[in-house]
This record gives sequence, C-alpha cells and structure tokens, in this order.
Amino acid sequence: MTEMGPITLAMLKQHQIVNKFLEDSEKISEDDIYQFVKLFNLFKWNLNKHLFIEEENIFPVVDSTNKKELNQIQGLLNDHKDIRKIIDNFDEEIGDGIRPNTSILRELLFKHEGREIDDFYPILDKRLTSDKRKEILEKIKEIRLG
Ligand SMILES: [Fe+2]
Ligand SMILES: [Fe+2]
Repeated sequence: MTEMGPITLAMLKQHQIVNKFLEDSEKISEDDIYQFVKLFNLFKWNLNKHLFIEEENIFPVVDSTNKKELNQIQGLLNDHKDIRKIIDNFDEEIGDGIRPNTSILRELLFKHEGREIDDFYPILDKRLTSDKRKEILEKIKEIRLG
C-alpha cells in the first residue's frame, strides 16, 4: 500500500473515532436502552462534527471543471443525506422508547467511508497545493472529535 496523504489520514482517524462510538453502542445489552442512547448520542455528536468538516472545509475545494470529482462529491453528499435521514428515523424510534437496529446505518456509513478514503481523499491529497492542504488541515484541527 502506498503511503496515505495527510488529508486522507486525518479523515481516516476521524472515521475510526466515529465508528468506535457506533460499535460501542451496538455492544450494549438489549435491555439497557439508557446506555445505548448515551453512546449513540456521542456517536451523533462526533459524526455531525465530521460531516460539518467535510461539507464546509473539504468538499468546497472540489475542482468544478473535473467531471469525475463533481460526480464523486454528488455521490458523497447524497450519502450524507441518506445517513442523516436514517439517524432522524432512529431519533424518532428512540423517542418512542424503541432501540433502533443500527446495522443498516453501519453498512451505509462504512461503504461511504471507504469511498472517501479509497477514492476521493487521495485525489485531493495529490491535486491540492501544499498551502491549500495546510489550510484544510489547520481547520480540521479546530474541531476536536472524541
Ligand atoms: Fe462523508
Ligand atoms: Fe467521512
């Protein structure tokens, strides 16, 4: 495997934090909805910060003359929409005292993260100037996950 670029690596680390909270919430026993909600809320807190960083700090640097990049961004933004929709449904279920089945969310989230790490972020790492990369990395650091 070739060495990962700095943006790819920074975002991979964020994915690991986000995923850990989701996986921890899934490990909670079926009847402990209180603990589940606590971890699920931490998952959401971190995921929303992550999506904000992507949508406000990284995606805007897309090369709008490059069809491939534009298509990728469109796909990633659609994923974000689907992820948020699923989470909204979960929040309703939780409001009704039902523990949601997170497997659909996990599947979509992991597939989405794979697309970012394998296809999209490496392109940016390669294409952006080192100044622009630095600017993005500084902003990533402003928002702490965990
Ligand atoms: Fe994303
Ligand atoms: Fe991501």
